[in-house]
Amino acid sequence: MTATWVQVLASYLHLLAVAVYVGGSVAMEFVLGPAQRFVPPAQAQILGQRSADRFLVLVWGSLALFPVSGMLLFFSLSDQHLVTHGGMLSTSEGRTLLAMMLLWAVLVANGALITFVFRPRLVARAKAQGGGARVADHLESMQRAATWISRLTRVDLAVALVVVLLGASLAYGKGIL
Ligand code: HEM
Repeated sequence: MTATWVQVLASYLHLLAVAVYVGGSVAMEFVLGPAQRFVPPAQAQILGQRSADRFLVLVWGSLALFPVSGMLLFFSLSDQHLVTHGGMLSTSEGRTLLAMMLLWAVLVANGALITFVFRPRLVARAKAQGGGARVADHLESMQRAATWISRLTRVDLAVALVVVLLGASLAYGKGIL
């Protein structure tokens, strides 16, 4: 089928979202994270907070762009037979697309946990005042929140890399599931 401008636009936006999400996660995990260890803890914390705040805007932007551009791709590539003829589970293409959407939902759920549960805890703890045992308690909670953010970020990166494989199998084959 000849590529129409809708397909080109949808493909462009989808790949842009992939580049921002995966590229950004790799940079945060393997470039900024390790570099922070060479900065004094107080400054590393501020650097981590500021960069995470900015990166989360990009994360939510790309998470919103995935379904919009993905659906646009889906309808412009005439893949609708997958849904209309019940092929969503009975064909490899349908199962692969379904897995892509479910894994996207996992990324959204993890993103929501980071943004609305663990980040606020980290920021609140960082601002908290008090002496002795309270400081130690705050530091421990802060450390726990930071550990969870780091774990979830790694899970997200692994999930995103699997989704890229699913996408490639759809774009250049008939799916892999
Ligand atoms: C609700 C979410 C999503 C939907 C509905 C969706 C849908 C689609 C569709 C319909 C295609 C084109 C398949 C074809 O060529 O027949 C595609 C390709 C692709 N998707 Fe997704 N997708 C979603 C999320 C994601 C996510 C989260 C990632 C990666 C982090 C991703 C990465 C890719 C890649 C790499 C391709 C191949 C693009 C190419 O090489 O042209 N998608 N997606």
